[in-house]
Amino acid sequence: MEFIVTKDYKSMSTLAAERIVEQVRENPRSVLGLATGSTPEGLYAELVAAYRVGDVDFAGITTFNLDEYCGLSPDHSQSYHYFMREHLISHVNIDEARAFIPNEELVNDRPAWETYSARMDAAGGVDLQLLGIGQNGHIGFNEPDDNFSKGCHIVELTESTIQANSRLFDSVDEVPRRAYTMGIGDIMKARRVILVASGDSKAESVRDSFFGPVTPRIPASILQFHHNICVIVDEAAAKLCPVG
Ligand code: GLP
Repeated sequence: MEFIVTKDYKSMSTLAAERIVEQVRENPRSVLGLATGSTPEGLYAELVAAYRVGDVDFAGITTFNLDEYCGLSPDHSQSYHYFMREHLISHVNIDEARAFIPNEELVNDRPAWETYSARMDAAGGVDLQLLGIGQNGHIGFNEPDDNFSKGCHIVELTESTIQANSRLFDSVDEVPRRAYTMGIGDIMKARRVILVASGDSKAESVRDSFFGPVTPRIPASILQFHHNICVIVDEAAAKLCPVG
């Protein structure tokens, strides 16, 4: 595990964006697993800037987003479809036909929904999976549980996630209670993982995930078993970690 502590949010974002740009330059047909949340906003801005100055070309890539709320239309300002358009897709030359995000249509038709994981496999598997982390150690929307999940599925969000994400909605009542997410198995199949975390509110989950026992009660802890993971955290998020 590569565990990198950066001075601040900006340098965390720059480093993560550089790694993604390198990945796409090395393999212009890369399959990227993408994440949402406040944490990757800075790195997406850096990817857009790199694209604008001609440092990277996204025309050949395929993307699979980790997760989406159930019941929000793609045009809802808090949907992850909207987020991806706002922060990345509409600013760069990603082919929208190859930008996949879990959605209702797939869930209403269960066999099709099960193919979200199969579709990732058919695309050759994810070359680089970007992750944020929840305050309770969730990745994607894989909440603390008795077991690690395998493929894409629907989850009931925990009260702590609903509270944490309510900051982005007008009221806590508007936060969807359920979400679609890639499974832990899907995430672990990625050839390479980059996890970013910033700020004091992530300090406990970063310590518990990367320096504690591996347990489905802290879903991100399974990443300790990934063969190619880079954790990039700023000083605030690393403050409880036993690192120099
Ligand atoms: C959400 C997303 C996660 C994300 C997490 C942290 O619940 N489903 O993928 O990593 O929140 O988000 P933030 O970066 O806003 O703290």
